[in-house]
Amino acid sequence: HAVIFSGIQPTGTPHLGNYLGAMRQWKRLQDIAGDEDKLLFSIVDLHAITMPQDAEALRTRRREMLAALLAIGLDPEKSTLFYQSSVMQHTELMWILSCTASMGYLSRMTQYKSKLMATNKAGDLDEEITSRLKLGLFSYPVLQAADILVHRATHVPVGDDQKQHLEFARECVTNFNHTYNQKLLVSPETLTAPSPRVMSLRDPYQKMSKSSPNERSRILITSTPTEIRQRIMGAVTDSINMITYEREDRPGVANLIELIVQCSSEPTTPENVADSFLGANLGDLKAYCAEAVVLELDGIRERFTKLLERQGGKYLDDIEAAGAEIARQNAEETMRLFSVTHVKENVY
Ligand code: TYM
Repeated sequence: HAVIFSGIQPTGTPHLGNYLGAMRQWKRLQDIAGDEDKLLFSIVDLHAITMPQDAEALRTRRREMLAALLAIGLDPEKSTLFYQSSVMQHTELMWILSCTASMGYLSRMTQYKSKLMATNKAGDLDEEITSRLKLGLFSYPVLQAADILVHRATHVPVGDDQKQHLEFARECVTNFNHTYNQKLLVSPETLTAPSPRVMSLRDPYQKMSKSSPNERSRILITSTPTEIRQRIMGAVTDSINMITYEREDRPGVANLIELIVQCSSEPTTPENVADSFLGANLGDLKAYCAEAVVLELDGIRERFTKLLERQGGKYLDDIEAAGAEIARQNAEETMRLFSVTHVKENVY
């Protein structure tokens, strides 16, 4: 049977990219899972502090993320929902993995480089940049690997941008199992959504992201229909006023077409959508796209607001406490494999 694990950072209300790339898959997996399968979804607050955070604000966002996960239809009876920092085994395993993980592999990973913004022309980190780089940002993927491996996950549903991190998690398994010549860790499979990356509405060469300073670049799953319409009508495309699907040459238009595909009630393809707009203009495409997204997100905002208010937040806190308890037990089973006090096959 399957163990599904995934994580999301509590860095603000999730956007359409998080939703179509990851969260909606989580809900679909939950709906088809059998009794034997396990599903765990973690709000990864320890990953969030790789960037300085205000503690009170982080606690609020954590709770909002939990409300968002419930609002899109995750059911705490079927899916274990918890904060990463509630389950210390994640960081315990991280240390063990750090001792066999390759620095070289980590330094070739792109995500922390882009967070640092400036690399030199060759794309390498020069000494000045390296000295500003914090160890936590560099070793971020090791904690992510630990999140997955501590729960013996078999499948990890993520958006396209996380593929590299998942490859690294498998690399951690190989390195560890090789060093200790035993098979304590399970290699996880990546499950990516059928959708490509959702791109920014202001710059179709960038992915839609929580950290972009321009709010108009994204649609939140709690955006109002009016906001959704405004942002999609204002999306940056190009000046060719006809509809064709060309990912390379017309990324802005392609992004809208792909959103229509993702939000359509009947299965369709980008080519079909483009054909159906033959003779129409960009305004028509945007208006259609906006309505499809409004429909897809219908009801989420209302459920989200209600959940946040329920029992002054206690309802959410109780769900998290129950989830954390289950996750701790599951993680502890893995950690026992490592410890001298329990089995022969051990590391320390
Ligand atoms: P995070 O919080 O950035 O994103 C959460 C999920 O949303 C997906 N996603 C997107 N998909 C499509 N288009 C986009 N524009 C877009 N932006 C985000 C991401 O692929 C992700 O699946 N490192 C992870 C969190 C993490 C994790 C883990 C994930 C920590 N531990 C263990 C899986 C397993 C992250 O920062 O995701």
